Order: sequence, then C-alpha cells, then structure tokens
Amino acid sequence: MRAGFRLAALAWVAAIAPWHAAHPAEALQPGVDYHSFANVAAFRVRNVDLDLTVDFAARRLTGRADLTVARLDKSAHTLILDTRDLDIGAVSLIQAGAATPLAFKLGQAREFLGKPLRIEMPAGEGDAVVRIEYHTEPQASGLQWLTPAQTAGKKHPYLFSQSESIHSRSWIPLQDSPQVRQTYRATIRVPDGLVAVMSASHGPVDPKPDAHGLTAYRFEMPEAIPSYLIALAVGDIAFRAISDRTGVYTEPAVLEAAAKEFVDLESIVATCEKLFGPYRWGRYDLLILPPSAPYGGMENPRLSFITPTVIAGDRSLVSLIAHELAHSWSGNLVTNATWRDFWLNEGFTVYLERRILEALYGERREKMEDALGLQSLRRDLADLAPAEQHLAIDLRGKDPDDGVTDVAYEKGKLFLQFLESRFGRSALDAFLRSYFDHFAFQSIYTEQFLAYLRTNLLATKPGAVTEQQIHTWVYEPGIPGFAVLPSADVFAPVDQARADWLAGKLTTAQLPTASWVTQEWLQFLDNMPQSVPTARLDELDHAFGLSKSGNAEIAHSWFKIAIRNGYPPAYPALEHYLLTIGRRKLVRPLYEELMKTPTGAALARSTYAKARPGYHPITQTAIDAIVRSAGAPPQN
Ligand code: BES
Ligand code: ZN
Repeated sequence: MRAGFRLAALAWVAAIAPWHAAHPAEALQPGVDYHSFANVAAFRVRNVDLDLTVDFAARRLTGRADLTVARLDKSAHTLILDTRDLDIGAVSLIQAGAATPLAFKLGQAREFLGKPLRIEMPAGEGDAVVRIEYHTEPQASGLQWLTPAQTAGKKHPYLFSQSESIHSRSWIPLQDSPQVRQTYRATIRVPDGLVAVMSASHGPVDPKPDAHGLTAYRFEMPEAIPSYLIALAVGDIAFRAISDRTGVYTEPAVLEAAAKEFVDLESIVATCEKLFGPYRWGRYDLLILPPSAPYGGMENPRLSFITPTVIAGDRSLVSLIAHELAHSWSGNLVTNATWRDFWLNEGFTVYLERRILEALYGERREKMEDALGLQSLRRDLADLAPAEQHLAIDLRGKDPDDGVTDVAYEKGKLFLQFLESRFGRSALDAFLRSYFDHFAFQSIYTEQFLAYLRTNLLATKPGAVTEQQIHTWVYEPGIPGFAVLPSADVFAPVDQARADWLAGKLTTAQLPTASWVTQEWLQFLDNMPQSVPTARLDELDHAFGLSKSGNAEIAHSWFKIAIRNGYPPAYPALEHYLLTIGRRKLVRPLYEELMKTPTGAALARSTYAKARPGYHPITQTAIDAIVRSAGAPPQN
C-alpha cells in the first residue's frame, strides 16, 4: 500500500514541483481544498443537469452539463471548473431558452488534478446557467468500461463510475471539491436493452427507444451533495426488493445470491436509525458491481456501490454494508470539506459501523472487527512517515486516493471510542445525533468539528479530556499512549490453536475450525509466522481448500502466506484470483508480496500483463507503481 504512495509522491514532485516548491513552507490553511482549481469564493455551482449518451463502442459519454452557478463575488468574471481528460466542444450561457456562446480555455494539466476550465462570465448578478457540451475520453479515471466477457452474464457491456476522491472531473466538468454541494438531475441515454442507475431517485423511463435505438433514463437528486457522490452505472441490471425501501440491483446471474446475502439490509437501516436518527435519503439500495470494482464499497447516496467479493455465502462480510450505509450520516449528510478532513468521513463511519454490528450481531463480533482493525492500523503505521499518521493529514502535492490508510479509518474510530470512554456512551450518542442534525447537508473541516466538540461535549464535563489530548489525537503521529485500545481476548482461542498447531500439539484435523467465522480465519492466517514449511501449508490447503476458498478475504490472507513461502500449488488459484478480482485492497498487497522475490516478480509481471486491461483505472495506477518499478529494490 505504501509503495504506491511514495512512488506517486515522487512522480508528482518531478512533474510539477515549481507550483508548490515556490512556497515550500507555506502554512496549510484549514478548509482550503488543495485538490481543486475551482474559485469557490467567487462562484458556486448549485445544480448540475446532465444529458449524456452512453457510447460503448467509443467508450465515451457524450452530451452536456448545464450548471446553475451562483455568483458570490460580484467583481468576479472567470468561472474556473475542474476537468480531466474531457473534450470540451462549446460553452454557452442559457437564458430564457436561448444559448449565447461564452469564451473558454483549458489550462495546463497538473499531475493528479487535471486541467482548469476557465469560462468568461458576463457581468451580472444572480444565478446563471452555463451549458458545457463535451465528451469523455476512453481513459477517464472515474469510469470503467467493461467488455461483455468481464461481466457475469457475458452478453452485454457494462459501465460504472467511481468519483471519490477527485474523479468526477473526468466525466463531468464541475467544481470538483467536497466543500461544494449541489443537487443534480440527469437524462442518461443507453442502448436498448440496457439499464441505467444513479445515486438519485429514479424518474420515469421513456417507454420506447428513440430513433437511434437509445432508451432514456431520468434521475433526480433533490438534496445538495458533494460531487464525489454523483454516480452512474449502466448494464444488464435487474432489481430485487428486500423491503419497502431497500433492495439490490445487480446482473441477473448474481441476483439470487446477492438477495440472499443481504437479507438483513432492512434491519441494518433500522438499527442505524435507532442509533443515530432518521435516514434522510428515501430509499436505500445496493448495486452489486462486477468483480473489477476497485473498492469494497462506495457510499453513493440512495445506492451504495458494492464489490461482489463480499458475497461470501454466509453473510460474514456484511460489515461492509453497515459501513456504506453509515456514510448516509457520516459523510453524505456531514461531509469532509477537503481531503485533509477525510477522517471525519471514515473514522466516524467505522465507529458507526461497529455500533451497528454490535447491535445486530452482538459484542463478540464487534470485538473481532475492532481487534482486526487495530492490527491492520499497526501494520499501516509501521510503514507510514510520521506526518502521514495524523488524522488531519497534509495531502498537498499528493493524490488523495493514496492518502487512504487505516489512519483515517481505525485511528479515527479509536478517537471516538476514546471520547465514548470518557463521557459515556449515552452522552456520546446524544452528541453525535446533535452533530448530524447541526451540520446536516453541510461540508465541514476538522477545526469546525473540534469547535463543535468543545462546546457540546467537552464542556459538559470539564477536565475529562484535555486540549493537549485532542491535539495529540488530531495533529500528532501514532496511537496516543492514553488511547483505550480494544482487547484481543476474543481471539485468544484462535491464537492458542495456531500456536498448538505450529508446535505439533494439535493436528490439522484437530483444529477447531468448524465453529470459526471469517474473522477468526483471518486472525488465524494473518498471524502465521513469516515462514511456514511447505508440508504444513500442504496440510492446511488439503484440509480446508484455502486456495479454492470462495471467500475473497480468506483467500487473500492465504495467498499472502503462500507467496511469502514460495508455495507453487497455490499459484494457479492466485493467478485466477488476480485475473478476476480488481479490488485494490485485495490485489495490491499480493503484487507487493510477489515483487519481493525474483520468481514472484516474474509471476507478478506475467499475470499483470494479462490482468491490467481488466482492472479499473484506480487499481491500474496502484499496481503500475508496484510492478512497473521493476529494478527498484523491494519496498519495506
Ligand atoms: N468511501 C470509501 C471508499 C473510498 C475512499 C473511495 C477513498 C475513494 C477514496 C468507502 O466507504 C470505504 O471505506 N470502503 C472500504 C470498505 C470499508 C468497509 C472499510 C473499501 O472499499 O475497502
Ligand atoms: Zn467509508
């Protein structure tokens, strides 16, 4: 994970150093988004109205975006938008149905950020509607175009977007900053027989295809959301209701398994409402994507996008659904204003996710997730520079996608658990509810949260938490010495079983695996010693079919051991795994592990050569940095 981070940072320095190097010591300003060109103090986009045609042959979206723009600064005359790899045809002002051309210019590209689009605005007050006619490029970083072979049904192509962090700009010209909130509407024209879905309410579908054989789907998102939550998918997509307000969308071939795996969806929503207040988005549906999805889940409002790798057959990975749903409060309702504040989205969401798990599946299950989370955080911390370990992280000059580490997630969650331990659960719950209400449909940065925390929680019990402690959590590296850490007691039996098995006190057949849930398997495998003899790996694989595991997380943990120990019997299954799954978190560590030895590196290269065309652009970027740095010494 860290390898990609460092290489990407180096590439950036080489490419555009002058931009920031001119002000190397410039103080970071909280609330300023260093990952957008938009001049948000002068203009604000309030609504986006899309009319896009999906062209699978050319791998393009073609059409227009009408932006309703408010002018905040009367003297401003240049509207600056974010774009990346967009082909802009024309820009015009729409007034009373008539279009007047506006002068525009694309600026210099900057690594990670794309190009600013500067539009000359006429003088005047009030809102203006700016129409941008454009098409996307096949390499748009926020879109993945799949061939029929890459889908479950094998007959129809598929398209889906992934806009977080800064990829909206690769398919829509807009102010691509999470501090800008807008409503949106869309008409999406797709080849007859295919279905379009978006993170919005679904309007009427034109019953018949038009003269070009295109069917128009209409959408509306009436709540103001940040650009990274605008989402689209098109394919052979079917729907199955789970309750009145929840259901799953996916390819017909996957529908049955998905509906089974996610039967608890309504109770997950109800549980979260009970804890944190009403669900404010109407419906909550899931879209189960093809296996190339780069993330486990993406909290697109009303419609979370989910990797099929969570369909384990036994509902053991639904914590991911709880996580994406919880973002309907932390993230979608109250949003990080800049990527420095990403922990406000993810740390809070992990805390909410664990509370849902506890309420639904009991304390034991929650404790397992907490213990695994802490281990994972410690592994991440071991590889991160001190400055990368702050909750409020300085990402200037970096790709925000590479700043995604367990610091925001698990350290952020630990901070909230610390507050819980000092103020009690009911006080923290009341505080969180009021926080979600107070900042509902707003984007805030770290210091705004801290100010609210001081007034509404810290002040209720003076001295319970000191300013110094808050400072340590947010602006200092590592896990604070005074943190309240989850105990790993739940895993003591598994740890004992592993130790006894390694010492020969337990045979493989005597391992008490029959009662193990996925999390216990992960604990068992992730804490194996560095080297395990081939004969013992054979025993495990034969007894438990680990190479063939249908559980993508367990298989992942197993493959890491297999690679580390050069265990060839697992390689065909490993190769198949890398060729079918594109989730960055699952494949990146495997490539990293492979690159550490010459034989592994050869396998990584030959497999990646075949797998790369099927990976999402986000996963390609991450793996390029690992596999293509051939010759570089192994990371670690
Ligand atoms: N919002 C994130 C995904 C994300 C983060 C996309 C940063 C782009 C940039 C999502 O909610 C998430 O955290 N997904 C996790 C799963 C979760 C259970 C930890 C993932 O994809 O692994
Ligand atoms: Zn998340």
